[in-house]
Amino acid sequence: MEITNVMEYEEIAKKKLPKMVYDYYASGAEDQWTLKENRNAFSRILFRPRILVDVSHIDMTTTVFGFKVSMPIMIAPTAMQKMAHPDGEYATARAASAAGTIMTLSSWATSSVEEVASTGPGIRFFQFYVLKDRNVVAQLVRKAERAGFKAIVLTVDTPRLGRREADIKNGFALPPNLTLKNFEGLDIGKMDRTNDSGLTTYAAEQVDRSLSWKDVKWLQTITTLPILVKGVLTAEDTRVAVQAGAAGIIVSNHGARQLDYVPATIMALEEVVKAAQGKLPVFLDGGVRRGTDVFKALALGASGVFIGRPVLFSLAAEGEAGVKKVLQMLRDEFELTMALSGCRSLKEITRDHIMTEHDRPRVAPRL
Ligand code: FNR
Repeated sequence: MEITNVMEYEEIAKKKLPKMVYDYYASGAEDQWTLKENRNAFSRILFRPRILVDVSHIDMTTTVFGFKVSMPIMIAPTAMQKMAHPDGEYATARAASAAGTIMTLSSWATSSVEEVASTGPGIRFFQFYVLKDRNVVAQLVRKAERAGFKAIVLTVDTPRLGRREADIKNGFALPPNLTLKNFEGLDIGKMDRTNDSGLTTYAAEQVDRSLSWKDVKWLQTITTLPILVKGVLTAEDTRVAVQAGAAGIIVSNHGARQLDYVPATIMALEEVVKAAQGKLPVFLDGGVRRGTDVFKALALGASGVFIGRPVLFSLAAEGEAGVKKVLQMLRDEFELTMALSGCRSLKEITRDHIMTEHDRPRVAPRL
């Protein structure tokens, strides 16, 4: 049967993937309240469409740090894509560049920055966590620069790994035929099977829990690439990020895999956008599954969105063709949403095109 929306890939992936892998991709932290809320919150935002606008031409293009992209929909970093499909990150990279958009490669990828670069031209960002060994961090940054990556995405919401109970039950570990390719030769590429989640142990060994804003400044001394801070949810941290010299912010709750009961990212977005005062671009990830979600994020001030799980599930189902289809479906839906709302370009999308619960007049209690 024809696949008609992004969500349908999850069921297919669930049937195809080993339980340990599917659970790792799908799950959120603890009660998974934020996981559901990342989706539910979008459904509480409604449209205020404008009519009788000539929408015969719709322009979805934009620029990110000066790089032209075909649409404001980009790929978030997700670890270990070769567990989904043997082509893993290669397939994702090819699909992203065919769609004219940006791929962010996870530092916990099963393909290296050089391998991803070898797939051909494309705009790519490199994500990492600050590791205890700053030498390794500096080496990674240099590798990414040499491979032509255009920005660094620093994930700041993971001083420790959130508790994903399915991974603990499954004793999650990277299958033995795969390695975390970017760390190969640095002696930290393997992940052992433990009686806990293997990833929790690995992260506890490698990731620096003392990471602070000082490190964001330090990073700027070792690279001229723009640094995007991923994992901001409050106005307070937005102001500090601006002061610390961040080039951009990604409002993210790590796909609800870290602290449970943080708000949906779409709920936190406006606060961050207001605090940023236009000094840097603000992006969003978390629960984006429809073109209407993209529109809502842009109406609340995002410069673009990133998608995580839809890439993994479509990769598992159909490899590169699946990821291409996901990007195409989101693009088509977003274009349709713009047309039906009376917007011909991204700058025509305004806060007045939507209403949140906050905007709706309160219904008087019945006496
Ligand atoms: C992630 N995410 C993530 N983030 C990051 O900075 N580095 C990483 O290695 C990973 N790995 C990862 C693996 C898996 C399986 C998932 C689901 C997520 C978080 C990711 O970048 C993004 O924030 C969320 O996935 C966005 O939410 P959606 O689109 O998955 O709902």
